[in-house]
Amino acid sequence: MSPSAFRRASFPILEHSTYLVSHSLGAMPRAAADRLAEYAGTWAARGVRAWHEGWWDLPRTLGDEVGALLGAPAGSVVMQPNVSIAQSAIASCLSYGGSRNVIVFEAPQFPSVGYVWEAQRAQGARIRSVPCPDGISVPLDLFLGAIGEDTLLVPLSHALFRSGFVQDVAAITRRAHEVGAWVAVDLYQSAGTLPVDLTAWDVDFAVGGCLKWLCGGPGAAFLYVAPRLHSRLQPRVTGWAAHEDPFAFRNGPIAYAPDAARFLQGTPAIPALYAAREGLAVVKDVGVDAIRAQSVRQMQMLIDLAQEAGFRVRTPARAAERGGLAVIEGPETWADELENREVLVDYRPDAGLRVSTHFYTSDDDVHRFIAELRSIRDASSGVA
Ligand SMILES: Cc1ncc(COP(=O)(O)O)c(C=O)c1O
Repeated sequence: MSPSAFRRASFPILEHSTYLVSHSLGAMPRAAADRLAEYAGTWAARGVRAWHEGWWDLPRTLGDEVGALLGAPAGSVVMQPNVSIAQSAIASCLSYGGSRNVIVFEAPQFPSVGYVWEAQRAQGARIRSVPCPDGISVPLDLFLGAIGEDTLLVPLSHALFRSGFVQDVAAITRRAHEVGAWVAVDLYQSAGTLPVDLTAWDVDFAVGGCLKWLCGGPGAAFLYVAPRLHSRLQPRVTGWAAHEDPFAFRNGPIAYAPDAARFLQGTPAIPALYAAREGLAVVKDVGVDAIRAQSVRQMQMLIDLAQEAGFRVRTPARAAERGGLAVIEGPETWADELENREVLVDYRPDAGLRVSTHFYTSDDDVHRFIAELRSIRDASSGVA
C-alpha cells in the first residue's frame, strides 16, 4: 500500500482541500494539536519546574531526533528559531579579513539566506554567485569552477526553492574541502522528501526547518555542525543557552558548551518545538525512502499530465535532479483561483506555480489539480 493510503486521515486539512503546497508549509498532523495541548498542560501544572523537566533540553533532544533522520550523530544538531538566524550564527564564526574570504553560492539562493551572506560584505567578505543559465538548474561544472583557494564557505541549497533542482552536495563538498573551504548545506527543500546523509557527504554545516516536508509548523529550524569542528568554533551570534553551564549565571566572556549546543542563543521557543515533534515522528514512521519513491512517481505523473494539457513545466527533466516540487508556468491569478476552489499551491515571481505532492497525496489529488488548472486556463483564455 502507498504511504498516502493509510496516512490521510491523520491530516485534517485533507478532508476539504487538495493540498499540493508542502514545499511551503506541510499539512498539520492532527496529533500536533495534542502535543500543543501537552505543552499547555505542562506549563499549567508544572510551571517553572518544566524548564528542568525537559523544556530547557528540548533544542538538543529534538535536535538529536532531527539528526537521526539526516545521518547526523547525537550532539551535532540543535534547534534554531529559523534558518536566517542559523546562517547568521555560522557567519559569526568566520573572519573575513584575509585573502580567503569569498562566499560561493548559487544565484537562485533563497533570498533570506543571500541577505545574511551579503550582509557579511561589511565585515570584508566577498560574494561569488554561480549562475543558473536556464533559470532551472545550476550546472555542476560551473559550481565546481567557482570554488577556489580564495573560498571560505559554500552555503548552497540541496534543492533549489524556485525550481526544485537537486544539487550534488557530495561533489561540491569534495571540491570545497580540496581547496580548504567549508560547506553549509540548506536542507529546507529536501529534509523529509529526499534522502539526506550529512555524515556520508562530509559537510561542515547544515541548516533546515521542520515547517515544510517535516510537517512541524513554523519556529522549529535546525543547525548541524560537524563534530570535528565543535571545539574550533566560537559563534559571535550567541547567548546563555550556548554556555557550558548556563544556570551558573557567570558574568564575563562565555564558556561555550562542548557540542553543537554552543550554537544556541537565548530562551528557546518551546511551543514550536512541541508542535514539531509529531510531524517528525510521522515522517520517520513512513520512511524517507518510501516518501521519495511515491514523490518521484506522483510528480512524474503530474508533470506528464500538465504537459499533455499544454502547460509548460519549468523543472529538471530527469527525476534524479528533481526534488519534491515542480513549477508550472502561469500567472499568480491562477494560484488565487485554485485557492478559491480549495486546491492549494503557491506562486513565486520568476518561476510560476509551485506544486508538490507528499506522502499524504492521493493520485486523485493530482488529477483534480490538473482538471481545475485546465478549467481556469481555458476560462481565462475564452475557451468554452
Ligand atoms: C531553501 C530555503 N531556505 C530557507 C528558507 C526559510 O528561511 P527562514 O527559516 O529564515 O525563514 C526557505 C523557505 O521558507 C527555503 O525554501
